[in-house]
Amino acid sequence: MPVNGVPGGEASMDNREKLLEQLTGVDSSKLNYYVELKKRNQEVLKQNSRLEILRQLSRDINIDMSIADIVEGAFSKLPQTLPCDFLGLVAVKSNGLILKALQPPDFCRIEDFPAHSPSLKVIQQKRAEIFNLPPDELSHIRINPAYPGPLRSLAIAPMFKRDEVIGALIVASGTFEAYDRNDLNFVEHLGDQLSISIQNARLYKQVSRAKEEWESTFMAVTDPIFLVDTDYNVLLHNGRLPAEMQFFWDQSLSRKCFAKLHGRKEPCQDCPIREVQRTRQPVYQRWQTESGLVLDLSYYPVMTEGKQLSAVTIILKDVTEKMKMEGQLIQSAKLAALGEMAAGVAHELNSPMTVIIGTAQLVARELQQDGQPERAAELEDIVNSGLRCKRIIQNLLTFSRQDQQPATEIDLNDEARRVLGMIKYQINRSRITITERMTSDLPRLIANGPQIQQVLTNLLINARDALNEVAGREKVIEVSSELRVVSGRRWAVLSVSDNGIGIPSENRPKIFTPFYTSKEATKGTGLGLSVSLGIAESHNGTIEVTSTPGQGSTFSLVLPIDQQ
Ligand SMILES: Nc1ncnc2c1ncn2[C@@H]1O[C@H](COP(=O)(O)OP(=O)(O)OP(=O)(O)O)[C@@H](O)[C@H]1O
Ligand SMILES: [Mg+2]
Repeated sequence: MPVNGVPGGEASMDNREKLLEQLTGVDSSKLNYYVELKKRNQEVLKQNSRLEILRQLSRDINIDMSIADIVEGAFSKLPQTLPCDFLGLVAVKSNGLILKALQPPDFCRIEDFPAHSPSLKVIQQKRAEIFNLPPDELSHIRINPAYPGPLRSLAIAPMFKRDEVIGALIVASGTFEAYDRNDLNFVEHLGDQLSISIQNARLYKQVSRAKEEWESTFMAVTDPIFLVDTDYNVLLHNGRLPAEMQFFWDQSLSRKCFAKLHGRKEPCQDCPIREVQRTRQPVYQRWQTESGLVLDLSYYPVMTEGKQLSAVTIILKDVTEKMKMEGQLIQSAKLAALGEMAAGVAHELNSPMTVIIGTAQLVARELQQDGQPERAAELEDIVNSGLRCKRIIQNLLTFSRQDQQPATEIDLNDEARRVLGMIKYQINRSRITITERMTSDLPRLIANGPQIQQVLTNLLINARDALNEVAGREKVIEVSSELRVVSGRRWAVLSVSDNGIGIPSENRPKIFTPFYTSKEATKGTGLGLSVSLGIAESHNGTIEVTSTPGQGSTFSLVLPIDQQ
């Protein structure tokens, strides 16, 4: 055959190549191409494995991982594709660079990044770079002696947040010239990937912190708050429902607000949620529960970005107390007006009353002299009634503070003894024993003496009246004084105790109300205690009451010794 028929070595070699070329269809220059192709192929495989590593990394990184965890994850994969003895993450801070995370975690310490440090260079130039350095160039990296040798090559890539460099990723090896251009490319990609992961983690933390803050604010509000969707489902609530509304809430299996709040099966008639849906405006409503709670409800629309109504926030506010206070305020405003008017009338009545009494006394004396004592006794009634009217007038004037006298330094015990001296006889007449228990160490205090006497008189007369209602026991009134010290502030306390009828608990809130009296119309005007309390308060003091129905009462005038 012609092929075998050619003798000689070189020729036969040529022939073999020719034969090979004929068989494969590839000439010898193409062989190089195949070698190249094989190399490329390996290169592609390497790239693929790197891409795979990047992919795995991004999959393994959780949003709630710390930077140290992220760097640790990357370091565990890197040696599969790249020489890597050290992986470090350097962050830019206001005062320079810091080594934020490293692997192995105890590999080295970098306290200071000098001006010539490779990381600083990369960060300043915003460009990745390979460094092959003599060991003394990296003397700022203090390597733990437990690890072999110094670092000889570094591949460093900048890490970006948008266009701003926030740090650098250092991959380093103890081998000289360990990295080529492709490796650097990979480190750059890795740096990008890590900075995205770190930013994601940071954003996640921010969002979850904001969520926590929002939730704790929501839970901290003491008024009940609900978030209800447009289909009446309760989406969120802060568990602050008043106790009496808890029943339906706990019983209901449904999420609907009408079931949870009212135990209903259908939406309430005129449900404000519908009005919010229609008007997109807040709606306010007032409810009164069966037990008398008054609740103000505010319904606020919650809109999506597309201006669609997504839910309604309902806030309940318990205004029962506020309503009561408003009522009281109106009442006291009325009383103030009434007081002013009464004072005016009292003032006007004072002079004619004096004339009536004076004239009646004059006529009575004349009749007495004329030998008509019965007629004179009739006039006595006029005088007594007149005196009673004058007492009422005096009370009204004091009540509206139109007879203010200046305050002086007084001894409370002396004032009490003065009053007792005046009315003891009157009280003893009712077979009542008065005992005194005054403390001797009561400092003098600034007060209006006659007013204090008036208070004590009122309290003693009340005690007497309370004792007149009981029979079959020894009737005792005890007048006592004591010094009280509260948080370093001294108070003088003057108390009148009786073992009379006591005050029924239902009347207890009323006794200081002007014109409240339980006594028959001719006996009580109902002004004694309200006037007394007014006097006590004008001295920055108060009147305290303890009473047991059927057993007796104690009224204490409490006055400050030390003014604040
Ligand atoms: N020591 C007491 N024991 C029992 N009830 C009392 C006592 N002090 C006051 N009260 C009750 O408080 C009511 C109001 O007392 P207050 O002194 O304001 O009016 P009054 O004594 O009825 O009339 P006034 O004092 O104006 O003549 C009395 O009617 C009585 O029901
Ligand atoms: Mg009285």
